[in-house]
Amino acid sequence: MIYTPHPDKYSQMPFRRCGKSGLKLPAISLGLWHNFGGIDTEENARSILRLAFDRGITHFDLANNYGPPAGSAEETFGRVLRSDFHSWRDHMVISTKAGYHMWEGPYGEWGSKKYLVASLDQSLKRMGLDYVDVFYHHRPDPETPLEETMATLDLVVRQGKALYAGISNYNAEETTEASRILRRLGTPFIIHQPKYSMLVRTPENGLLDVLEKEGIGCIAFSPLAQGLLTNRYLDEIPADSRAAKSWGFLQQEEITPGLLLKIKALSGIAHRRDQTLAQMAIAWLLKKPGVTSVLVGASKPGQLEDSLKSLENLRFAGEELGQIEKILND
Ligand SMILES: NC(=O)c1ccc[n+]([C@@H]2O[C@H](COP(=O)([O-])OP(=O)(O)OC[C@H]3O[C@@H](n4cnc5c(N)ncnc54)[C@H](OP(=O)(O)O)[C@@H]3O)[C@@H](O)[C@H]2O)c1
Repeated sequence: MIYTPHPDKYSQMPFRRCGKSGLKLPAISLGLWHNFGGIDTEENARSILRLAFDRGITHFDLANNYGPPAGSAEETFGRVLRSDFHSWRDHMVISTKAGYHMWEGPYGEWGSKKYLVASLDQSLKRMGLDYVDVFYHHRPDPETPLEETMATLDLVVRQGKALYAGISNYNAEETTEASRILRRLGTPFIIHQPKYSMLVRTPENGLLDVLEKEGIGCIAFSPLAQGLLTNRYLDEIPADSRAAKSWGFLQQEEITPGLLLKIKALSGIAHRRDQTLAQMAIAWLLKKPGVTSVLVGASKPGQLEDSLKSLENLRFAGEELGQIEKILND
């Protein structure tokens, strides 16, 4: 059936300026790391993407290696773009990244110009796009000079293959240095993508300060700690959950009794706020100064529907924040 986006899609979503740039991002963005690969069901992927767009999620985040197999999430997204969203490209902010292992040999990962240029060209081909809105360097490379990596971000923007540049997984010092180089080059470096959630607070140790000082936006990835900050694991490890899968980065051993106690206590606070734990975890991040957008994943449309409801209550009483801190720090 031909897809027609919901006419009220924009009224349902707050849009926030990304740092000091001209680009606004939806408060909630959708990531395609899991559940959009060749091993997944395309109809489910399509349903999640349609729901997202219908609800004002204009930003879709990919990377060269998302799948599995690597590259297949971009292929899936490309097919759905062609079939469903072909007249809506100008309403979408599409990002991709390169940095992690993509192909064998010395030119298939990290931060050389050789790798990044080839990878972006491959990503554009897989998605059937002329350009992405944001191209990220996915992780710092300890060996390639930062000048080379940043000059490549600058190059692809000047070539029109990306509109803006971003970095991901860089710490505060690395970000300061990247920003200094990109500022000198005149590159529109507008966004940083760190891992940030109630359970992973690393960006609070200096990175958020750097981003604010430099006028760079922040999009928090794995805001639900890959599903730990939801009701998914409260009673058991469901067979269809990420932790139950043989591949991926969420291991069953991480779900310790101590962590479960914290998650249950947090879920109790969420319940008193009339929210699910996922909704509270997203709202908590959206309240953090400097966070532009929260980049969620979803394995089913119902999960995204649930996560979107976080926007209905972003207020926290001081007492609630205190209780949350106590649980997280105990
Ligand atoms: N830059 C980087 O290095 C990097 C790294 C990782 C991720 N990312 C980006 O961040 C995006 C999100 O990462 P993520 O998938 O780890 O995010 P997440 O939002 O922390 O976790 C998503 C998972 O949580 C569960 N879930 C989501 N909403 C739920 C809800 N309302 N109720 C119950 N369970 C729910 C689902 O798990 P089940 O699958 O078990 O159902 C879903 O797959 C990625 O797609 C990618 O774009 C970037």
